[in-house]
Amino acid sequence: MKYHKLIENAADPKGFWGRLMIKSMNKNHSELTDWGLCHVEINRNYTILDIGCGGGKTVSKLCDKIGNGKVYGIDCSELCVENSKKLNNKNVICGKAVITQASVSNLPFDVDSFDIVTAVETYYFWPDKLNDLKEIYRVLKPGGKLLLVFEMLKTDDDPFKWEKVEKIIGTNAVKKEEISDILYRAGYINIQTFTKSGTSWLCATAEKS
Ligand SMILES: C[S@@+](CC[C@H](N)C(=O)[O-])C[C@H]1O[C@@H](n2cnc3c(N)ncnc32)[C@H](O)[C@@H]1O
Repeated sequence: MKYHKLIENAADPKGFWGRLMIKSMNKNHSELTDWGLCHVEINRNYTILDIGCGGGKTVSKLCDKIGNGKVYGIDCSELCVENSKKLNNKNVICGKAVITQASVSNLPFDVDSFDIVTAVETYYFWPDKLNDLKEIYRVLKPGGKLLLVFEMLKTDDDPFKWEKVEKIIGTNAVKKEEISDILYRAGYINIQTFTKSGTSWLCATAEKS
């Protein structure tokens, strides 16, 4: 029951269970996020966007990596925006972090705005994945990179690993080939995927030409 209520709140955290889910995401996605971030080079003056920023932990990690750059976070959940702002309070006050309620499908940013866009454990929930990836492409600078990070990788060895969670959240774990293919169809170049042995983690990097 508790597990069910928590997982239900992954897509759009709300209320008591949403608050618990946000705490749990900040803790449980930390190592996965660190691993994912190793696959992109982050310069100290970069402008970075984190999509589906949840409780704000990735925004906080990115702020630590940049000097005079800037980190934007967006999430469709009002509760997530509130929690992300709280966690990144100091950086929000000094203008290094900006956190806004928005959907990946309609990003409130100009074309060619970001050096890097990150998205940790959120892709599964996007409503129109191909167009959402095209929307990210629009806001990336030429040569800018997208980093997608997943914990729910489906492999031929263990295709039913995520079945229970998939039923609760109403969306599917991803396959490596599926992610490469959709990134290609969305117009990205230099697409690479990485997995970590002993885990079901996947990350994909792709570039705007
Ligand atoms: C499982 S949580 C991951 C949060 C965070 N990235 C982390 O790793 O802890 C998924 C997040 O994606 C957000 N989300 C879902 N659909 C979204 C959309 N269409 N646009 C923006 N954010 C979305 C949810 O509100 C939630 O905060």
